[in-house]
Amino acid sequence: MSLDFGELTFSLTQTRSMYRARCELGGEWQPGELQPFQNLELSPAACVLNYGQGLFEGLKAYRANDGRILLFRPAMNAARLRNGCRRLSMPPVPEDIFLSAVHDVVSENADFIPPNNDGALYIRPLVFGSGAILGVAPAPEFTFLVFTSPVGPYFKGGLTPIRLLVTQDFHRAAPKGTGGVKAIGNYAPGMLASGHAKLKGYAEVVYLDAAEDRYIEEVGAANFFALFGDTLVTPALNGSILPGVTRDSVLQLAAERFGLQVKERDVSINEALGADELFCSGTAAVISPIGCISHEGEDHQFSGGEVGPRTRALYEALTAIQHGDAIDEFGWVVDV
Ligand code: PLP
Ligand code: COI
Repeated sequence: MSLDFGELTFSLTQTRSMYRARCELGGEWQPGELQPFQNLELSPAACVLNYGQGLFEGLKAYRANDGRILLFRPAMNAARLRNGCRRLSMPPVPEDIFLSAVHDVVSENADFIPPNNDGALYIRPLVFGSGAILGVAPAPEFTFLVFTSPVGPYFKGGLTPIRLLVTQDFHRAAPKGTGGVKAIGNYAPGMLASGHAKLKGYAEVVYLDAAEDRYIEEVGAANFFALFGDTLVTPALNGSILPGVTRDSVLQLAAERFGLQVKERDVSINEALGADELFCSGTAAVISPIGCISHEGEDHQFSGGEVGPRTRALYEALTAIQHGDAIDEFGWVVDV
């Protein structure tokens, strides 16, 4: 294998093997097995293809400087996936099956994990209605898959401030909809919004809430944070915002390591435009500083377009724990 880890971006590099398990409607998940990374065979009537009965997850395996392989809070991804399965009428994948699948795929593809500072092995679990059905109802059979890919930064340039556009044309999720779970159907509608933003020179869109068009929900596929002095604010989980693992970790780090006041509450776009620092968080996005937001045709700059000091400190604290470079007093990191 010849892979230039230093050149990685957030794109697919196939690895050796993937994990696959199945479950019948009304039955129980049985432990699956590893198999070579390969194409799937599906009926044209598979529920996932016709009605979008599918969920995904995303987490990373890191290579510590001492050679250990580390996962970051994988049980949180397992719990979020079970919650999503319930929302999409699929049998929840038990935590032990999820964790051992992740463990086995990462171990088998360990040579694809980049060195400590060059990125991570992105782990992509999927659950979907693979069985054929014509009526709109749960599939007769479900598949749980885990594949991996070595990745570099999600936004170009790593810890470089990104420029965002508040979209006035699209919402991501509605109250009582599926925004709070990682339903595959939440993502294709965002491609048009992101595409418009990219054409105008912005990295991503900021979504406002669907009820009042006033409060910030998320940044594409990342959670939103605003710093006002010593207070860190993030939109409260209202059902349409994805409960990010990174979001939860940033809140704990900010409060316990840095003594910041943390608040989960509504944040209007007008309030956010007056913040001292802004950033977004996610497994792929890590902590990405926001240098500029365009709203109603006007660009607003933050931290003078530089990386804000608190954003940088949170980024360094989080990544040091994830990469095994700092003491993990929270018990977040799991050895493979
Ligand atoms: N919001 C959305 C819509 C996402 O898809 C993601 C990515 O998983 C996140 C936020 C961040 O979540 P996490 O920190 O668990 O990766
Ligand atoms: C993640 O951060 O893991 C995501 O799911 C983001 C994205 C690639 C959709």
